[in-house]
Amino acid sequence: MQELIERAATDLAAASYAVALTGAGMSTESGIPDFRGPQGVWTKDPDAERRAYLSYERFVADPGAWWKERLSAPIGALGSLEKTEPNPGHRALVELEKLGALRCVITQNIDNLHKKAGSRKVLEYHGNAFLLRCMNCNARFDFGEFDLQKLNEEGKLPPRCPDCGSVVKSDTVSFGEPIPQDVARQSLGEVVKCDFMLICGTSAVVYPFAALPRTARARRAEKEREALSGLVAVERLPAVTIVEINAEPTPLTLEGVSDYLIQGNTGDVLPQLVERVKAKMGAAKG
Ligand code: APR
Repeated sequence: MQELIERAATDLAAASYAVALTGAGMSTESGIPDFRGPQGVWTKDPDAERRAYLSYERFVADPGAWWKERLSAPIGALGSLEKTEPNPGHRALVELEKLGALRCVITQNIDNLHKKAGSRKVLEYHGNAFLLRCMNCNARFDFGEFDLQKLNEEGKLPPRCPDCGSVVKSDTVSFGEPIPQDVARQSLGEVVKCDFMLICGTSAVVYPFAALPRTARARRAEKEREALSGLVAVERLPAVTIVEINAEPTPLTLEGVSDYLIQGNTGDVLPQLVERVKAKMGAAKG
């Protein structure tokens, strides 16, 4: 593993535009269970996963009833997210951003921990559990901007967007719900710009997020090489180096979408990666 961390530090320090893609594995060391790992929410309660698949359909059919149920429901499967704190993995990504080695975090996590840790450019692909979103204009709101209990008592659910009057939902993206256009577009914009992608703590089985590494893998960069004959040959080489940090191999590993996997915990591996990158950047300045 040490050799691979060293290799990743070399690749990252040499990159001109690096992005990180993250999943629930980033937050297990903060006490939030993942979904499909051995202790995952869906692994332990397949019924909960089946119910989750029906949520968006029910919302579209009757958003008022959906909200009524939501307001009376006990705390969700992920527990009380407010009380959770970032772990060394989250903080390591903040440091990489401060070093200028990382440009953006694209996360599937709704737990707000990347922002809480201090990451500045964060794209929340599956939304944020602390926000609401207008289903029409994509405006985001804090929960405090609506008195949901009062709306419930007055029979005025679902909440309505003050800008365009459309229905407002929690910002979290349910199964079957389209990814909000603004986040989808910005994320793709990062993926087509990057030359290094760090994929942390995801099983990479949920689409369309899992397509992002594949889009990066498909990109080619033309590199010129002078042949012995003196002729210049143009080679079309992979444009992006893709590195996974995960507790177990994923389809990206098995299908060769990633260049290599560092099999370990993000909270353990990422801080080590930061130290090596710092050393290389220091040596480069030297
Ligand atoms: N460090 C590294 N890897 C870890 C750690 C850790 N500390 N803890 C767990 N893992 C790994 C697990 O082994 C698993 O491979 O992280 C992965 C988490 O995968 P999932 O549970 O499938 O989570 P994720 O990929 O984020 O799920 C995607 O599915 O249920 C939906 O909307 C939900 O955003 C979520 C999406």
